[in-house]
Amino acid sequence: MSRQAAVTPENAPTVQQLLAFYLEAGVDCALAEEPIDRLSDSELISAASRPAQPPTARPAGAIPVARTEAGPGTEAAILSAREAARTTPTLDALRALLENFDGCALKATATRLVFADGNPQARIMFVGEAPGREEDLEGLPFVGRSGKLLDRMIAAIGLDRTSAYIANVIPWRPPGNRTPTPQETQICLPFIQRQIELVNPDVLVTLGNPSTQILLETREGIMKTRGRWFDYNTGTRVIRAIATFHPAYLLRSPGYKRMAWQDLRAIAKALEQPAS
Ligand code: URA
Repeated sequence: MSRQAAVTPENAPTVQQLLAFYLEAGVDCALAEEPIDRLSDSELISAASRPAQPPTARPAGAIPVARTEAGPGTEAAILSAREAARTTPTLDALRALLENFDGCALKATATRLVFADGNPQARIMFVGEAPGREEDLEGLPFVGRSGKLLDRMIAAIGLDRTSAYIANVIPWRPPGNRTPTPQETQICLPFIQRQIELVNPDVLVTLGNPSTQILLETREGIMKTRGRWFDYNTGTRVIRAIATFHPAYLLRSPGYKRMAWQDLRAIAKALEQPAS
C-alpha cells in the first residue's frame, strides 16, 4: 500500500496548483465573500446528527410529488412550483414568477435566471438540460460552445433563433456544472412544462438524455430514444416530440453527428406539414 507524503512547507502546492485543482473539481465560482468552516459550525453538525423527520402528511387528493427521496422542504417546493406554474397566463408572467421563486436552491448560486431565447411564436422548441457558465453569465440558453453547434444544427433545417425557441429543464446553472439532483429537477419541472404549454410548438425537440427522460417520461437511454417520435401531452394538446443528441455530446463524440443529421431531417419533414 502506498503512503501519502506529509505536506510540508517545501512540498506544499502553490496557489496556482490549488486553483487548478479546484477548477478541475468544478469549483469555479465563489459563493460568499468569507469562507465558512462547516466542520466547526455546531448548528450544522447537530442538524446532521439529528434523526430524519417522518414525512409530513399530504393534503387529501394531492398528487404524490415525485419518485425521488423528497424531504418535506422539497415536497413543499414541488407543490408550490406546480401550483404557481399551473395558473401563470403568459411567458412574461412565467419569467417573472421564476425571478421571484425561491423554492430551488440553484437560484442562490446562479448569477441569473436563464429563461429562454428565440421566438415564442416559433413552430419548434428545443429543450436542453441546464445552463452552463456562459449561459449563466449572459442569461441566455445555449450561447457557449454547445450553443454554437446547436445554432448550426438549427441552421441545417433552415431555421435560426428568430424561428426557433430554446429553453432548458432547469433555468439556473448548477454550481460547477454538476448534474442537477432529482429533487432540483422535480422542482423545476412544472415551470418548463408550463413554458412548453404556453409556447405551444408543433414540434418539441429534447436535447440529450436528461431532458428526454424527464419530459418524455421514458427511462430508456438516448441511443434508444433518439430519432423516435413521442406524444407530448400538455394537458390541452398533444405535441409531436422527438429526442436527439445534446450538442455537448456531439462535440465530445462527433461520430454521432451523422445520426443527429438523420434526426434533423425527420424534424424538417415534420415541419413541412401545415401548422396545426
Ligand atoms: N447545455 C444545456 O443543456 N443548456 C444550455 O443552455 C447550455 C448547455
